[in-house]
Amino acid sequence: MSVPQRVSIVEVGPRDGLQNEQRTLSPQIRAELIDRLAAAGLTRIEAGSFVSSAVVPQMAHTDEVLALASNPNLRLSALVPNLRGVSAALAAGAKEIAVFAAASETFSKRNINCSIEESLTRYAEVVAEARRHGVITRGYVSCVLGCPYEGDVDSGRVASVAGALLEMGCFEVSLGDTIGVGAPLPARRMVERVARVVPLEKLAAHFHDTYGQALANIFACLEVGVSTVDSSVAGLGGCPFAPGAAGNVATEDVVYMLDRMDVETGVSLDRLLEAGAFVCRQLNRAPASRVALAHAARRGGCDAPLRR
Ligand code: HMG
Ligand code: MG
Repeated sequence: MSVPQRVSIVEVGPRDGLQNEQRTLSPQIRAELIDRLAAAGLTRIEAGSFVSSAVVPQMAHTDEVLALASNPNLRLSALVPNLRGVSAALAAGAKEIAVFAAASETFSKRNINCSIEESLTRYAEVVAEARRHGVITRGYVSCVLGCPYEGDVDSGRVASVAGALLEMGCFEVSLGDTIGVGAPLPARRMVERVARVVPLEKLAAHFHDTYGQALANIFACLEVGVSTVDSSVAGLGGCPFAPGAAGNVATEDVVYMLDRMDVETGVSLDRLLEAGAFVCRQLNRAPASRVALAHAARRGGCDAPLRR
């Protein structure tokens, strides 16, 4: 089996990463992080979310982040849970948003306080409203390989939620292993099942790395033909509604793996490592990226304190 010659990376660190860090960064620092990620060659970056700031305070002031980081060469996106969120995103000048559904009822309720069906009805309105203003919408399905509350998740359920997101007008569906419990063969079977309703070129792989399986899972998805991968600089973050879940796979680790396989990403690993060191200094933590740690060790020290 072969893998795609080119992979598009969606950098989710400024959203998925920062939403679950103890330290809340200012809009200026968040925008500077985005600028540094752009300087590394990343063109698709999730900048934040328009959600309740009582629930996720780290993502407050996403409108300011979008204003400060407005680089015409960048595709910035922001998470939106409802019509109020889409109004805020439009007012902030967003050109791309993302809605986030789940394949598990309990996770849906805990994350966005409604059932899967209610969320899909709400998102259809959000997507239509965005489209009326020329804004495109990405869709997420969470808990595609397991739920922190319900355990195993049926791939048929994942496919049906992914199909509904495509049907309502999402241009791409990102499959989220929210708690990082997947392994390569289950990941591959799940993607094959979803690909019966959503074409592979419209699917993205979104793996958290709780059990250290994320790179292997990504490789399994690439072999099936997925060519869009979500990742977070320095492996930051997690999900506030998935206790114990680790951050996303680190972008540095994905870029290193793809570079070594001669798969094009357009991303400079050196510049990316600089962006990762920058955000780790701001957060006063060590990177979760194995590649960043290896580079720091080779240089004879780490820029940031060694706390994970
Ligand atoms: P609710 O309580 O059902 O909503 O929450 P509500 O309409 O009753 O409003 C409650 C409060 O939120 C009110 O404020 C609203 O004004 C406010 P109050 O009157 O109490 O002061 N509110 C808002 N504020 C700002 N922006 C909005 C907005 N809407 C309502 N758009 C709601 C429902 C969805 C709002 C809430 O549950 C929420 O904000 N959840 C956030 C969930 C979240 O951000 N989760 C993390 C992202 S998902 C993820 O990480 C997974 C992913 O990475 C993929 C993967 O890994 O699987 C995407
Ligand atoms: Mg996530």
